Amino acid sequence: MEKSNIHVILSAAISVDGKISTRENDSKLSSKEDKIRLHKLRSKVDAILIGKNTLLQDDPLLTVRYTKGKNPIRIILDSKGTIPISSKIIKTSNKIPTIIVVSKKITDTNLLKLKKLPIEIIVAGENSVNLKLLMKKLSTKNIKTILVEGGGTVNWEFIKNNIFNELIVTLSPYLIGGIDATSFVQGKGFAKIINSPKLKLKSIKRLKNYLVLNYTKV
Ligand SMILES: NC(=O)c1ccc[n+]([C@@H]2O[C@H](COP(=O)([O-])OP(=O)(O)OC[C@H]3O[C@@H](n4cnc5c(N)ncnc54)[C@H](OP(=O)(O)O)[C@@H]3O)[C@@H](O)[C@H]2O)c1
Repeated sequence: MEKSNIHVILSAAISVDGKISTRENDSKLSSKEDKIRLHKLRSKVDAILIGKNTLLQDDPLLTVRYTKGKNPIRIILDSKGTIPISSKIIKTSNKIPTIIVVSKKITDTNLLKLKKLPIEIIVAGENSVNLKLLMKKLSTKNIKTILVEGGGTVNWEFIKNNIFNELIVTLSPYLIGGIDATSFVQGKGFAKIINSPKLKLKSIKRLKNYLVLNYTKV
């Protein structure tokens, strides 16, 4: 399959030990200054993408609030179409463009439920969402930049499939630990360091006690 030409940025606030949430799913790792920076970035991209678990755990809005600017399209990966209609994203989908990406595994009942909502549904993949196919479909919608805001499972799938160009992590001054706490990159991981994507440190920005690290893929 041909590569899409979408510019993909992986983004997260991580603890010094690489966690994006605690074992009880507390993920408030950002600071006010960092939120302003993130929201400025949000206003510049065409879309923000998250996985189903992040929606369930954080119930985010994914809008631009800490600065002025346009809201990007919100994209949720939800193979079986099970996200609750009580979530903030669904409740605001009549005002902010929202795409739910499902796979062919979705039941007729769930598909019917989604079809009643003011959202766009994209079917991509057999059992789980096929990211390469999704990128192809999104590029036909004039989406040129996507900010991937996690969680760890989604990050791994983008990294494993080599579908990212840039990485922006905010190193937050915390140590979380715990095998049940979600890491920035979940999944199986690479067996050898040589298999890891090669990253080039493009910039470092200090925001008081936080560090924003911006890498590009070599
Ligand atoms: N600190 C931060 O910046 C930050 C940012 C975001 C999230 N978080 C935290 O991260 C945690 C959630 O991370 P997570 O790893 O559990 O889940 P996740 O990455 O948010 O969501 C994973 C789920 O998305 C669905 N999905 C569908 N297609 C997929 C594909 N191609 N690749 C990957 N996922 C796909 C799958 O569910 P189905 O099979 O049902 O479709 C999968 O289980 C939460 O605790 C949240 O608070 C922290």
